Amino acid sequence: MQRQVDRLMAEMTLAEKIGQLNLLAAGEGLTTGAKQDTPLAQRLDAGAVGAIFGTKSLASARAMQDRALAGSRLGIPLFFAEDVIHGHRTVFPLPVALACSWDLDLVEETSAFAAAEAASEGLHQVYAPMIDISRDARWGRVAESPGEDPLLASRIAVAATRGFQGRDIAGAGRVAACLKHFVAYGAPDSGRDYDNASLSWEDLLSIYLPPFAAGVAEGAASVMASFNAVNKLAMHAHAPLIEGWLRGRTGFGGLVVSDYTGVKELTAHGLGPAPVVVARALHAGIDMDMVGEDYLAELPALARDGLSAPDAGVAFSADEIRGLIDRACHRVLSFKAALGLLDDPFRGIGDTEAPSRLSGRKLARRAAARSAVLLKNDGVLPLDDATGVALIGPFARDRRNMLGTWAVSGNSDDVVSLSDAVAALTGRMPDTAWGANIVADSWLERRLNVHGTTVEADPRTEADLLLEALEVARRSEVIVVTVGEAKEHAGESSSSLSPALPEAHHRLVAALKETGKPVVVIVFAGRPLALGSVAENADALLYAWHGGISGPEGVADLLFGAASPSARLCVTLPLHPGEVPVSHAEEPTGRPFPGVFQKFRTGWLDLPDGLTRFPFGFGLGYGDMRYGPPRLSAARAHAGDKVLLSLTVENAGPREAVETVQLYASDPVARITRPARFMIDFKQITLSPGESREVVFELDAGQFAYPLAPSLDAAEWLRDPGQIILHVGPNSRDTQPVELTWLS
Ligand code: BGC
Repeated sequence: MQRQVDRLMAEMTLAEKIGQLNLLAAGEGLTTGAKQDTPLAQRLDAGAVGAIFGTKSLASARAMQDRALAGSRLGIPLFFAEDVIHGHRTVFPLPVALACSWDLDLVEETSAFAAAEAASEGLHQVYAPMIDISRDARWGRVAESPGEDPLLASRIAVAATRGFQGRDIAGAGRVAACLKHFVAYGAPDSGRDYDNASLSWEDLLSIYLPPFAAGVAEGAASVMASFNAVNKLAMHAHAPLIEGWLRGRTGFGGLVVSDYTGVKELTAHGLGPAPVVVARALHAGIDMDMVGEDYLAELPALARDGLSAPDAGVAFSADEIRGLIDRACHRVLSFKAALGLLDDPFRGIGDTEAPSRLSGRKLARRAAARSAVLLKNDGVLPLDDATGVALIGPFARDRRNMLGTWAVSGNSDDVVSLSDAVAALTGRMPDTAWGANIVADSWLERRLNVHGTTVEADPRTEADLLLEALEVARRSEVIVVTVGEAKEHAGESSSSLSPALPEAHHRLVAALKETGKPVVVIVFAGRPLALGSVAENADALLYAWHGGISGPEGVADLLFGAASPSARLCVTLPLHPGEVPVSHAEEPTGRPFPGVFQKFRTGWLDLPDGLTRFPFGFGLGYGDMRYGPPRLSAARAHAGDKVLLSLTVENAGPREAVETVQLYASDPVARITRPARFMIDFKQITLSPGESREVVFELDAGQFAYPLAPSLDAAEWLRDPGQIILHVGPNSRDTQPVELTWLS
């Protein structure tokens, strides 16, 4: 393969090499191949495109490949990419939802299905998995993220990469994964999308980088850089992190692409005019320039003259630039070779059959039921099929929002609404009422329309909607009320000052509670929302996210007991919008100091009392799970020893149940402040009614290592002997402790 690439490189002109670094959007695409004369066609004729993303049909991909081959003296083919974020045509639950399944086989299965659908449409690379840790619910892209925890996110990165790529990215029905966004895109200042991240190198190394290391170790073939700056340097120019950490430390040997116009945007970051930022991006390790075409415009002159920009503190000789172009082009061609495209430019275009839509629907429904987190149940769920249900709220008949953000190839016609899903399951159409609008504020509605879609609204007043809802509620035995946010509320460029349920939804739930009937609240959302009084007013509470084409069917299965809830939060739900960022892995502070200064504490004066905390890892089932005491094979151990922590978990309930047993640790004395607790392992088990199982965790000293990093270059991972407290339980709060001492 390498010889093939080297042979091509030896024959290529500078212009041909630069052309390979140009990554364009398909836009309208091509339909008639040779006859069309669009700007994209002109680029293809000039051999000035390396890859295209966003093709919408096989025919268009074929037309583009034909045209590219005709325009390339050496017959170098394109590769095709797409945003396949949570499914392709078959839209699965949002990534943040699927992460709540903690089910790595399911993540692998849905990724493999999405890959097969994408591959059948001629796609070779997907811009997924998105593995940005996020602890800030204001940030709209939490929807795409695996949540707040590095261990869970790392395991998801591995499972998704395996699902997309299989053993070979050139295998039938497989595609290249693209880990994104590198890095710390999920930690923007104030939760504003695209904003920069200022954080300690220790946090970067222990929280934000591990999922990338895990994806790379699994063989992920590509990585996308993120828009933000990290510790003062924009990621598209971040040589120490891309060439240094990613390639140097993890051994990543694949392709790095820019994000959309990410190279061009370096100028707005204050890094200089186009020639300077192009040189910096190429030097930092950005191999392909997405959409901006700055590589195409600037590299010929840079390769001829070099660059000296003392004001920006950079200088490159012409030779150096040519060397960097060669490096990037070699990576692009190696990627194409690994995809099998240098042997067969039409590989994947029309030679792979799409998996059956029916099997996709079944998988999507199972995934939806596995992703919805049951937060509260005062005995009202599961419902009996014969229960007279009133289905209220703006999502009762909704289909469009269920797809969630970043479902670019999805179709809302494929969604079965909650009312239809309930009818299909129970044989009876539930009584429905709108209840409240999704967005009650007209200015926000207008803002959402700017994003290119509309939020469906009922023109009646809130009072009228409420009257109708109460009438329907009075005729029922149980009220199921749907609240939450529209799909445009979450996603790219959709940060929110106040990640909370709309006030109108609070009023609706409170009014329904007044009827005295049991109220089941279902939250459809793209981010973790502060639930406030809704959590108190609900008799049962299900956090269903935006669950994809079968999201509502999965919810119906849970409501009526056709499936049992097993999801666990992959994010902490904020008590109040003002407390974000928030996570289970917060650091201790000096106050309150035991016995002294009790009135001085971290926290907020104006945080209302009585709010329910739904912590990371939390979720209920329909069973009765009992945890025995944890036991250690040795309470004292040396580095190099294996220690076993075991406990018995019993399903004392009447149904089969999936349980996620979680293991956390705290390191009370270290060289620097460590998180009060951090997750070190989890295991998911399925128990039949009455079954007990011994769950065993294997511990080794490496799990307790932490980074010390006065700078990125000087970073080292170390571990001290001493005491560790292990905490095991069904979530990050309700745990049992056991102590372990490392003697060395
Ligand atoms: C997003 C990426 C996405 C790219 C291509 C950007 O705006 O940040 O996640 O892959 O567009 O659609």
